[in-house]
Amino acid sequence: MAAEAARMVAPPPPTHIAVIMDGNGRWAAAHRLPRVMGHRRGVDAVRTVVEACNDLGVRYLTLYAFSSENWKRPPTEVDDLMWLLRRYLRQEVEKLDAKGVRVRMIGNRAALAPDIVDLMNEIEGRTRANTGLTLILAVNYGGQDEIVSAARALAEDVRAGRLDPAEITKDHFAAQLATRDLPDPDLVIRTSGEQRLSNFLLWQTAYAELLFVDVLWPDFSRATLEDAIAAFHRRDRRFGA
Ligand code: FPP
Repeated sequence: MAAEAARMVAPPPPTHIAVIMDGNGRWAAAHRLPRVMGHRRGVDAVRTVVEACNDLGVRYLTLYAFSSENWKRPPTEVDDLMWLLRRYLRQEVEKLDAKGVRVRMIGNRAALAPDIVDLMNEIEGRTRANTGLTLILAVNYGGQDEIVSAARALAEDVRAGRLDPAEITKDHFAAQLATRDLPDPDLVIRTSGEQRLSNFLLWQTAYAELLFVDVLWPDFSRATLEDAIAAFHRRDRRFGA
């Protein structure tokens, strides 16, 4: 009864949570394991957080799975990350669909292996009409690249005479981003204690609350998420007012 009352008065969770999953390598080193084991345990944490967000009624969850800078890692590590992504997309499609999760991918697909692009298209198509959590996986994503592409598209519109430069607004810009139909994140969580955005959703995070937690990504649990949401509720959001 008390738990039910507490639930009834609990404020709703943030609509959109975005996560920079960091610390897989340090987790592996701390456990004297190869780096790939940190990434594997990172995928377990992805499953945990997706399920928890869906249960808690979070509407959008964006996960930074592979940044456009991650290609600079040793080729074997890039291969491991791509292999884990493939496996995740293959293994989770049924479960995510059954739970009503809608999956979206953002980032530059042109440089990805064709079979990964096929898996992405398949999971997006299959879950398109779902009405539960929207899970957005950022893969080969870079915020600066996204902004440059938007600027290029607007410049094309200007050159073609469809747009007057003096009339360009924030809405024109936002409409050219991969996130055009998604609300901006309310809360950005970065794990492992690092305090930077690392080219993640640079435009979209203008008014997001940033939370840096001292937990390595593989150790991120439902409790860590609940603590992060509680911390978010203690913040005073003014949106510049
Ligand atoms: C950071 O750890 C994490 C990443 C580079 C990517 C996150 C990837 C996963 C959790 C696995 C694949 C994702 C999906 C959705 C299947 P790090 O290697 O930078 O850690 P470190 O800073 O401690 O070395």
